[in-house]
Formats: sequence, C-alpha cells, structure tokens
Amino acid sequence: MAVSRLSLPQLVSCAASREDSIAPPPPAPAEVRAARRMVDSHGRVIRDLRLSITDRCNFRCVYCMDPGVRFMASESLLTTPEIVRVARVAASLGVRKIRLTGGEPTLHPELTEIIAGIRAAAPVEIAMITNASRLSRAALREWKAAGLSRVTISIDTLRPERFARLTRSTCTPADVLEGVAMCLGEGLTPLKLNAVLIRGLNDDEAPALAELARRFGVEMRFIEYMPLDSGRAWDSSKWVSAGETRRAIEERFPLVECGDDEASSTARTFAFGDGAPGRIGFIAPVSSPFCGACSRLRITGDGKVRACLFSTREWDLRSLLRRDSAGDDAIAEFLIDATWTKQEGHGIATPRFAQPERTMSAIGG
Ligand code: GTP
Ligand code: 5AD
Ligand code: SF4
Repeated sequence: MAVSRLSLPQLVSCAASREDSIAPPPPAPAEVRAARRMVDSHGRVIRDLRLSITDRCNFRCVYCMDPGVRFMASESLLTTPEIVRVARVAASLGVRKIRLTGGEPTLHPELTEIIAGIRAAAPVEIAMITNASRLSRAALREWKAAGLSRVTISIDTLRPERFARLTRSTCTPADVLEGVAMCLGEGLTPLKLNAVLIRGLNDDEAPALAELARRFGVEMRFIEYMPLDSGRAWDSSKWVSAGETRRAIEERFPLVECGDDEASSTARTFAFGDGAPGRIGFIAPVSSPFCGACSRLRITGDGKVRACLFSTREWDLRSLLRRDSAGDDAIAEFLIDATWTKQEGHGIATPRFAQPERTMSAIGG
C-alpha cells in the first residue's frame, strides 16, 4: 500500500492539554457503567491490559528512545501495591491478559513482587516483553514461580555492529539469543520474538531473522515501524511494509497462512511450507490497521490510562489511586469511563495523523 509521505514537520502533535490529562474522563452512559465491563463507544471490549511498570531502559533503540531521554521521577511511577490494585480491578472488569511492559520491565527492582501480587489478586495470564539483555536462569525461575506465564523478546538484528548501532547498547545479539534459550528452558512459552525493520538499517535481515523461528521453534514477528519514536525521525521512506518483508522471507522459506489468529490479534501468522517448526507473524499497524478488533488498554508507568497506543488524550488514574477516599468502585468506574473514550483508530497514513507526545518507551509496547 502507498503510505502518504508524512515527515515530522507535518506531524503536528495535538497532544493533550494539561487540563485534559488532569481531568477525569467524561462519564460513560449509565448502562455501560452498570454492566461492569470495559466497552468502548465503538463496541470493542477490553480483554488485554498492557501495564508499563517503568519507562527506564538500558537500550536506546533508534526507533524508540533518544540517547538524551529524560526518565520520569521515581515517585511519579505507580508503586507495586498501586499496580496490583489496578490489575485486580481491571480483572474484575473482564481483563484476561496482563502484559508487563516498559521501558525494560526487568529493570524494575520489585518485578517479582509485582508478578506475585498480580497473580494473587487477579485470575489473568501474565506475560512480559523484554529486550532479554539482563536475564538469568535464577531470575526467570523466580518470575515463573511468582506467576509469569510467557515472554516476548525483541531482536532486530543478528549482526553485532548493527545491534550496537540500533540499540546503542553494549549488549550483543548472542546475549539476546542466550536469553531466548533460557526462557525456553524455563518454560516461559509460547515465546515470541519481535523485530522492527527499518529501511537502510536492517531491512535486509528478514530471512535471517525468520530462520530464528525455525531454529528455536518459536514465533518470529515483524512489526511495521510506527511513528512513536522520541527522535521523531519516522517517515514513510524508512518504513518497510509487512508485504515486502513477507516477499523477502518467501524467497527462502515459502509460507502458509495458519488462519487461526484471533480476531483481536495484532499479528497474522504463517507456518513454514516445508513443515519446519516455528511460525512467522506480521504485525502491520500501518498497512493493515487492526484497530477495528482491538481489545487493548494501556496504563503508563506514571498511571495514565491510554485507551489507544496513539491516543493524544490520556487520563490520570494515579491521582485517583492516591486519593485516600477512592474505593475500588471509583477505580472501576474510571477505567470504564476512560475505555468509553477509545478512539476508532490511529489514522497513521492519513494527513490528519498526530504523533502522540509520548514515545513507545513511555507508553509501553
Ligand atoms: P500476544 O500475541 O498475546 O503475545 O500479544 P500481542 O499480540 O499484544 O503481542 P505483543 O504484546 O508482543 O505486541 C506486539 C507489538 O505489536 C507491540 O510491541 C506493538 O509494537 C504492536 N502493538 C501491540 N498492540 C498494538 C495496538 O493496539 N496498536 C498498534 N498500532 N500496535 C500494537
Ligand atoms: N514501531 C514499531 N514497534 C516499536 N517498538 C518500539 N518502538 C516501535 C516503533 N516505533 C516495539 C519494539 C518492542 C516492543 C516493545 O515495541 O520492537 O518489540
Ligand atoms: Fe528499550 Fe524496548 Fe525502547 Fe528498545 S524498544 S529502547 S529495548 S523500551
């Protein structure tokens, strides 16, 4: 598909005014509140909650964070009991999966307590996304015993010098692959790998990355580059479509569509035509937006509810959590009201698109 040539000067951000972010969300209709479910005004039901537990990261991926990024003050971040409380209330409203994101969630000093707290408070599947740079068998075992079910790991390149340029870290692809093996060894499955391809940087590596799926028997997913980078360097000339990526992979490994993706899934998944283990997933938010069946709600590290990855409005749940008089009913009502405001879609490829002020690292992938 042709993506209009948006470049950052054209992407005028119309981020929330200060007032918007402090004001509570407007009330959802009475019958929606009474149903005790998070449903938006387009009829979508929220089942997946993505909780960013920190905006800190030891990488500075070029598509995500600026080297000079300033992190939130630690007192701005939700505390472990606050995170657990939100998880409990969200589960009471129908959430079935909680994904812990960052920044890099493994940097959180109380990660085990957070997992265990959510496990004890909410009957949900707990997943986590990590850059896998700081994993150890002991830590993985501890998180699994605490209630973590599965892990998704980002790996964008297999070439050490590129990896250094892309992540601006001292970590290597070998470190990440060791992390993948450890997670598999500890049964944190089904394990998924994520890669973002950027034109001129790593767009020649699709077949090599696809080969990881065969080697480890996991799902390797290719995510289209989205305008959520703090450098605001996204433009359509750097973007690589899922279709192009698929064609490059199929030159080496013919694929067969699995056809069993859930409607709300971000990815379209494919098996290898020769029957090899593993799968390939394509996450194409730009060329094939999947907003229509979205089941996700996000909460940032500092306790703002974002009904969409691309919301330009967010709602300050933290103030409510820190108000002594606020009971769980008030938290539930807040989540229901915030969900009702969920926008229909992101419109990335349209001229009216506005890049959110927050970057991926501050929203949580
Ligand atoms: P599982 O398949 O259950 O592991 O969950 P998932 O499909 O939500 O996968 P994951 O959490 O790994 O998300 C994969 C990537 O898809 C994220 O890192 C984002 O880059 C992108 N993504 C996830 N949710 C959204 C969304 O609501 N909108 C857009 N545009 N992209 C999303
Ligand atoms: N576009 C697409 N995906 C991104 N991610 C981070 N920033 C972007 C972006 N601008 C992905 C990472 C990771 C997850 C947290 O989000 O690759 O897998
Ligand atoms: Fe860190 Fe993930 Fe952002 Fe890379 S994409 S800088 S690993 S939060």
